[in-house]
Amino acid sequence: MTVLDFLTKKKDRRPISMVTCYDSWSAALIGRTDIDCVLVGDSVSMTLYGHDNTLNVDVATMAAHTAAVRRGLPEGFIIGDMPFLSYRKGLEDTMSNAGALMQAGANAIKLEGADGNIDIIRHIVGSGIPVMGHLGLTPQSVHRFGGFRVQARSEEAALRLKDQALALQEAGCFSIVLEAVPASVAASVTSRLEIPVIGIGAGPEVDGQVLVLQDLLGLNPDFNPKFARRFLDGAGLIVDALQAYHRDVGDRSFPTAQESYR
Ligand code: KIV
Repeated sequence: MTVLDFLTKKKDRRPISMVTCYDSWSAALIGRTDIDCVLVGDSVSMTLYGHDNTLNVDVATMAAHTAAVRRGLPEGFIIGDMPFLSYRKGLEDTMSNAGALMQAGANAIKLEGADGNIDIIRHIVGSGIPVMGHLGLTPQSVHRFGGFRVQARSEEAALRLKDQALALQEAGCFSIVLEAVPASVAASVTSRLEIPVIGIGAGPEVDGQVLVLQDLLGLNPDFNPKFARRFLDGAGLIVDALQAYHRDVGDRSFPTAQESYR
């Protein structure tokens, strides 16, 4: 996959599959599948570090996770997420942060929102760094939204979203993530854009889907959002395996002679 394939896939109406990934061992497993691309998302803040939102990761952390994913997935297309405020403190700071993610191994960066970001996106793209946009429920703005809520429910908000998406396209984004918006709104934005729209909680009529790896593997039994299909009962399988290990240690059936050195 290259940045050009995103456009080709949209033109050919072939859906793009994207999944989040933060570490090298799961990156290597993803590398054994046909999944198109990987997002080193700032959701790592919640998923791996246990925070309530995505505001608690910095550029160094995102770069370290991006480098780990690159080591596990040498040939994959990797998008590095620009963390909270890392693209809002001026051009120089933004460029060194985007550069850090690219030098850690990303093929592109992602940043949230359109308002106030258009000039900076133009500059990043003009500097040779592909940019993925992110609209709808942009988690870095969770406090402004008053929680993790579906966005663009009113006609006015849906129109504003469409304008923002067009502005991102015009600024040079190669693709946009659209998160937690009504399916009809996502379909309408998707049909207006030449660049692909990758949805999460945005219904089926978009150009691709992204899910958090841990959600699709069912690793957190306490998190059941409507949009995240569980493709595996990962938590159940892992708990059973750990319990079996504990049992076998307890009754000394592990290790056997074959599992021991002579
Ligand atoms: O950080 C992330 O994982 C994301 C996806 C949910 C799109 O931004």
